[in-house]
Amino acid sequence: MSNWDELTAAATAAMERAYVPYSKYPVGAAARVDDGRIVTGCNVENAAYGVTLCAECGLISALINSGGGRLVEFACVDGHGSALMPCGRCRQLLWEHGGANLRLLMPEGETTMAEVLPQAFGPEKLEE
Ligand code: THU
Repeated sequence: MSNWDELTAAATAAMERAYVPYSKYPVGAAARVDDGRIVTGCNVENAAYGVTLCAECGLISALINSGGGRLVEFACVDGHGSALMPCGRCRQLLWEHGGANLRLLMPEGETTMAEVLPQAFGPEKLEE
């Protein structure tokens, strides 16, 4: 099983746990951490629609609550198990914990955070 197959399977399993009574659009996300473990998340919607948590929010929470570390590979999937591009807000979340070199599986294939979030605002800006 390739790295991407493993992450896609983990993201698909998370997607099947999504809480999406409003959009009916389940999303699952999975990432490999630099110590080898895999963290996942699913979207969790809310009757106050804007309060919805994207799958990536759950993944980042799982990352921190399981010991932290740097994300090295990331994939998210839609309800068909197909690769999905993370929304803009979630790209910012991923940047914080993976940086420019985080590899992502996008619908077009593998890419990096530097490609999908150019000229990003990151933690180092706060040091200037
Ligand atoms: N969604 C995610 O979970 N992650 C993304 O990167 C894109 C959008 C969710 C939010 C909402 O529950 C549903 O997809 C439809 O927008």
